[in-house]
Formats: sequence, structure tokens, C-alpha cells
Amino acid sequence: MSAKLSRNDPCWCGSGRKYKTCHAAFDDKIARFSEQGHIVPPHNIIKTPEQVEGIRKSAKINIAVLDYIEEHIHEGMNTAEIDRIVYDMTTQMGGIPAPLHYEGYPYSVCTSVNEQVCHGFPSEKVILKDGDIINVDCSTILNGYFSDSSRMFCIGDVSPEKKRLVEVTRECVELGLKEVRPWGFLGDMGQAVHDHAFQNGYTVVREIGGHGVGLAFHEEPWVGYNSKRGTEMLMAPGMIFTIEPMVNMGKADIYIDDDNNWEVYTEDGKPSAQWEIMVLVTEDGAEVLCW
Ligand code: MF3
Ligand code: CO
Repeated sequence: MSAKLSRNDPCWCGSGRKYKTCHAAFDDKIARFSEQGHIVPPHNIIKTPEQVEGIRKSAKINIAVLDYIEEHIHEGMNTAEIDRIVYDMTTQMGGIPAPLHYEGYPYSVCTSVNEQVCHGFPSEKVILKDGDIINVDCSTILNGYFSDSSRMFCIGDVSPEKKRLVEVTRECVELGLKEVRPWGFLGDMGQAVHDHAFQNGYTVVREIGGHGVGLAFHEEPWVGYNSKRGTEMLMAPGMIFTIEPMVNMGKADIYIDDDNNWEVYTEDGKPSAQWEIMVLVTEDGAEVLCW
């Protein structure tokens, strides 16, 4: 937390209002949680209404791109075509695909098929076939504001087992979302996600999680799903983070492709599913910014 402000100083959030009528009560509340030993959010991840507006516009592009993919994805299509659609649509709407060149990532989108857990490379050689499940993970930068979400798509006739994995993973995200409220804990959300996956006989990937997002692609906090109720970071109004569990049909273990150091697979070769939403903690609950 930054240096203590006087009550008549302008608030740290940039609203232009006096500290005492803006975030002073918020800081007092956070200080009490901190004294109790809880992890509390730093000021730099609390978004102002103006920033939220910018992030919301970025999210609108992300939603439009995923809506278009949802309508046009089909058997026989290769995943490089998805990459091109994402690049073309995002840039036409004035945005930049956030994955492109991010830490050396070479494409505009991640397309992860079947036992691919995440960060799958789009390729002309990956041709969608009947029975595949695929995660398309899109992220946009608009005027410096970041958005990030992903959806699963079932290609043709998908087996009941794989369909159930996709559905339960979506339910995990929905149940996690119900736990998002101010002055709760990220562990409340994490446990809800994990419990539902576990009750359905699935596992949740431990090493890769969600993240704060908005002013950068990946901000604090790191968001895991093997956490317990009442633990992890306190959720406060103005925080934005993703809920994006990777749920495996078999074991939780994963490995990363040796050659490209990006693509992640299940170790046992069984399918994995993921949905990703971006959530704003509001004064009285949560708002989904993109899905
Ligand atoms: N959209 C992914 C996430 O949810 C981004 C992975 S980094 C990338 O965090 F470079 F692969 F895009
Ligand atoms: Co993400």
C-alpha cells in the first residue's frame, strides 16, 4: 500500500475526488483484513470507472470475435484459419490481438484441441474433425486496455464423455462466478470450481491459472483453483480477474512441448476442457465483462 494520504488530498484512484469521500473507507476496510493476516489487493489493480469503461470496450471486441468463431467454426476447417479470422476481425475493429508476440508467442489466438490443455498453436495441419473439442482463447488490446476470454466448441458428433467434460467445465466457471463478491476471498471461488470438477470425477490443472487483467495482459493476482474457502486474496470492488480452470478427464498432470515451450498437453493423453471469463468485482457482486 502506498504512503498514507491526508483526508483532503486527491484520492489515489485518480477520480479527482477528495480521499476522504472516495477510497478512504475502502482502505480502512482493507487494512483490517490485512491485520487479520489476509492477502489484500494492491492499489494498482483496483480499476477506476474510467478504466473499467475502456476495458469494457476492449471486451466487446473479444466477444464479437468469439461470437463470429462460434458461428463459423466447422469440421474440415484448419486452426490457422481461426488465427486469421481473429487477426483480421480484431484489427478491423481497431484492436490488437494480445497474444501476438506476447513473450514470444507467435500467433493471434490459442487453439487447443482435445488433449491439448492450453496455448495450442494454430496450424494449417490441425484440421478440425468430427468428435473434436476445441478451446479458442482470444485476448484483445484496445487503447491500451486488455480483455481475455475463451470458449469451448464441439465439432460434429462429440462423444457423451467429452460433451460432459465440456459442460461440467462450464458449470465450474458458473459456480465459481457465484462466489465472486466484494470482501469475499478468491479461495471461495477456487474451492467452488475445484469441488464441482472433483465431484464429477475430473481433476483441475494446478500449475496454470487465471490472472488479474485490464491494464496489462497478466496482472496480480495469480488465480488458482486448488485453493480453499476463506484463503487467497481478498476480493475488492474494482478488481478484474479471469476465471479459467483447465479441467482434465484423467489425471491433473501436464507437460509442455519441448520444441516450442508453449503448447501444453495432458500427460495421460486424455481430453482437457477450459472456459475463461473476465469478471469485475462490483460494490454489490460481480459483472462478467466477457465470456
Ligand atoms: N489467453 C491466455 C490466458 O488466458 C493467454 C496465454 S499467453 C499467450 O492467459 F501468449 F499464449 F497468449
Ligand atoms: Co487468461
